[in-house]
Parts: sequence; C-alpha cells; structure tokens
Amino acid sequence: MKDRLIVGLDLGSSTLRLAIGQMSFTTEKKPLLNVIGLVESPSQGFSKGCVSSLEDAVSSISAILESAERLVGAPIQEAYVGIGGTHISVQEAKGVIGVSRTDGDIRPDDVARALESARAFANPANQEILHVLPCDFCVDGQCGIKDPIGMQGIRLEAHVNIVHGLSSHVRNITKAVFRTGVDISELVYSPLAAMEAVTQPRQRELGVCVLSIGASTTGLCVYEEGELLHAATLPIGADHITSDVAIGLRVALDVAENIKVAHGNTVSIEVNDRDRIDVLDFGGDQSEIVSLQYVSEIIEARVEELFEMVEGELKKIDRAGMLPAGVVLTGGGSKLPGMVEVAKRVLQLPCAVGSATAQSSMPELAHDPSYSTAVGLVLWGFESEKQMHSIRRPWSSGADGGRTMFSKITGPLKKVFKSFMP
Ligand SMILES: Nc1ncnc2c1ncn2[C@@H]1O[C@H](COP(=O)(O)OP(=O)(O)OP(=O)(O)O)[C@@H](O)[C@H]1O
Ligand SMILES: [Mg+2]
Repeated sequence: MKDRLIVGLDLGSSTLRLAIGQMSFTTEKKPLLNVIGLVESPSQGFSKGCVSSLEDAVSSISAILESAERLVGAPIQEAYVGIGGTHISVQEAKGVIGVSRTDGDIRPDDVARALESARAFANPANQEILHVLPCDFCVDGQCGIKDPIGMQGIRLEAHVNIVHGLSSHVRNITKAVFRTGVDISELVYSPLAAMEAVTQPRQRELGVCVLSIGASTTGLCVYEEGELLHAATLPIGADHITSDVAIGLRVALDVAENIKVAHGNTVSIEVNDRDRIDVLDFGGDQSEIVSLQYVSEIIEARVEELFEMVEGELKKIDRAGMLPAGVVLTGGGSKLPGMVEVAKRVLQLPCAVGSATAQSSMPELAHDPSYSTAVGLVLWGFESEKQMHSIRRPWSSGADGGRTMFSKITGPLKKVFKSFMP
C-alpha cells in the first residue's frame, strides 16, 4: 500500500492554516499517521467563516497551497476543508426503514438507508448538509443501540444529528477552493475538527465542551457518550477584544492588537495597578501612558460576555455546570493569559487550554492552539481514510462512535453528498 498525503485546510478569518499528514502502513498493513508539515499565511477574502471576496479568497488559498507544495515537494490535489460560521446549525432527525433481508439480519446497507432516510427527512430548505452523525438506533422499538449491524429486527430507526449550513455560503467556500484546482475530500464543520484534535475518546464519553476561539467567531462543540450533543458558532472572537481595546484607548487596531498580545491579561485583579505602558512603543503615533489594569478591565468585560454566551448555549442543552470532562479552550484567542480563570469562574466547570495531542509524531508547532483545527482536519481525514483501507469487518466498533462507523458504512453515500457540491 502506498503512502498518502492527507491535507487539512483551515480557512480562518485572520490566518489560513494548512496541515499535511502522511499516512503510511506498517508491514502488518496497519495505517500510521505523521504530521509532516504546517504552513500558515495571512487570510484575505474571508470574514466570519464566509467568503467576503471570491477573488481575494482564491488568491490567498493559492498562496498557502503554493507554500505547502514547496514544503513537501509534491502537488496537493485534495484537502479536507474546514468550514465555520454562524449560519451553520445542528438539527436532530430520525429515519425509519424496513429491514430488507427476509431473515431479519440488519446489514450495513440497511443502516446506510436508515441514515439516508433521516437525511431526507430533515431536508432543510436553502441548506447544504455537511454531516449526518448517528446518535443511536432503535431496532423494533428497542432504543440506545450504538451498532445495529448483525442484529435481528424488522424496523430500524436511526436518530441522527444533521449539521447543515446556508447553501450560498457553503457553495462560495467550495467555489473558492475548486478555483485553485484542488479537490475537496470532505467539508468538515471546523468545531468538530478542533474537537477531534484536542480531546480524547474518554473525555467525549464523559461529556466535554470544546471552545475554539478564533479571530471573528468562537466555535462551540459538546460531546457526551461519544456522540455530538450540540454545536454552534458564536459571533464573538478575539478580534472583538482588540476592537474594545482600540476604542477604550483611542488607538488604531494594530496598536491595540500589539498591546493585547504583549500585555493582555483577562484577570484584571491580578494586574498591578501601577503597571503602565506607552502606546508609542506599540506603534502608536504619539506618546500616551496607559494603565495595564485598565486594559485588562476592557479585556475581561468582553471575555466574560463570551463565556456568558457559552453558558447560554450549555443551558439550552441542560448541561450548564454539568460536563464532567469540563471545557477545553483552543484557537488563537485561547492564548490570552487568564482565559482559563475567567472560563472557570463564569462556567463553573473544569477548564484548560488544549492543543492537538496524538500518538503520531508531529512538529512542535502542531501543539500551538492556533493549529488545532488544521491538525484536527488531518486527523478527521485519517479516520475516514483508515476505514477505506481497513481490512477489519466494517461493523467492528470504532473508538470514536458514530462518525467512523458512519464513514465506514456509507462510502457510497459520501458520493451522494459530493453530488450536492457545485
Ligand atoms: N499570543 C496571543 N495572545 C493573545 N491573543 C492572541 C495570541 N495569538 C493570537 N491571538 C489572537 O487570536 C486571534 C486569531 O485566532 P485564530 O488564528 O485562531 O483565528 P482564525 O482562525 O483566523 O479566525 P476564525 O476562526 O474566527 O475564522 C486573533 O484575534 C489574535 O489576536
Ligand atoms: Mg479558526
């Protein structure tokens, strides 16, 4: 079996990031993944996860692909592309079918038909379906079944979560990528990719929330019992903190960004009230002394607002203060000192900053929280492609529950989804 490149492309609104994984096989044909390269370049033409200028988007994607091709010395033909934005939502759906075999044995194609039926049932207008994630199955009224293949029954019911986004926004992203000559292996909702990178199956089993704090948005994703429970994109990101600092200090945005990155702290009482800086040292056009505690108070107010919105999302699913594996913060915005303390105070849950962890070898940079989504896309791709090369029986259970099983049994369905792409 030949080595393969798995490429993850994260289209951030401040920075594009690309991770390259190499999938190889041991002599026992066991697939292995090594992340061999990471590239980033400034983002243009993207805003809040959507394309704001097609021409700029195409040229910035082309630029990052060129750097990546130079790095690995091979052309990049396809990529797992992350998609985010507040237009993406999750909806529960149900699909019911009659088992096709007269002996009542449930086969992979029955499961695929049940999932397809759930997808057709949801069929939201003007929306493009990105993922159909099975939660559980009911066989002849017995519910809570994770893997029905091989079981006996007449009626098979699939309970799924459908992740969908506004057709026009999804099509603009695919158009921008296709115009660079690169094929899309799969469009993946970014918070799911970040979840894949920064959490372990055990945490997803217990109940965990991942917050991916980007420049313009914050992706939220909750898993419990190994299944997706809730996902959302909140319209606040770390650039809102920068704007608040710029307004509060009456300085330009790039000056505010420099101050935030160099001295920002989310916990104002931890900042010495005598600490002062001069905005001139951070690119300001005239000297002005400002108190760092004042800067910190501005930051703290916005960060509290963000975590209060997160609390609101957790309340919607009755999990406020109730996730045993707590909250994992990731994305560039999570690097601001004091984020964990404020998250713990507002959410009343264990919190930590998380970055990509995997058994496979990775460059040091892959452990930077800013790269979680890009690396998560590679891990997502690896899980999907592992199944295609798998010599195991297709119904042997995977550690990540529904998603792997879904990709295992729905190879032909993936084609159906691809046909929805422009
Ligand atoms: N060391 C740091 N300290 C504080 N903030 C930081 C640091 N590094 C990056 N940030 C902030 O993180 C944000 C960028 O995060 P990230 O690169 O994850 O966003 P993005 O993926 O481009 O955006 P989005 O996901 O919203 O489309 C910026 O607002 C930046 O100010
Ligand atoms: Mg991002």
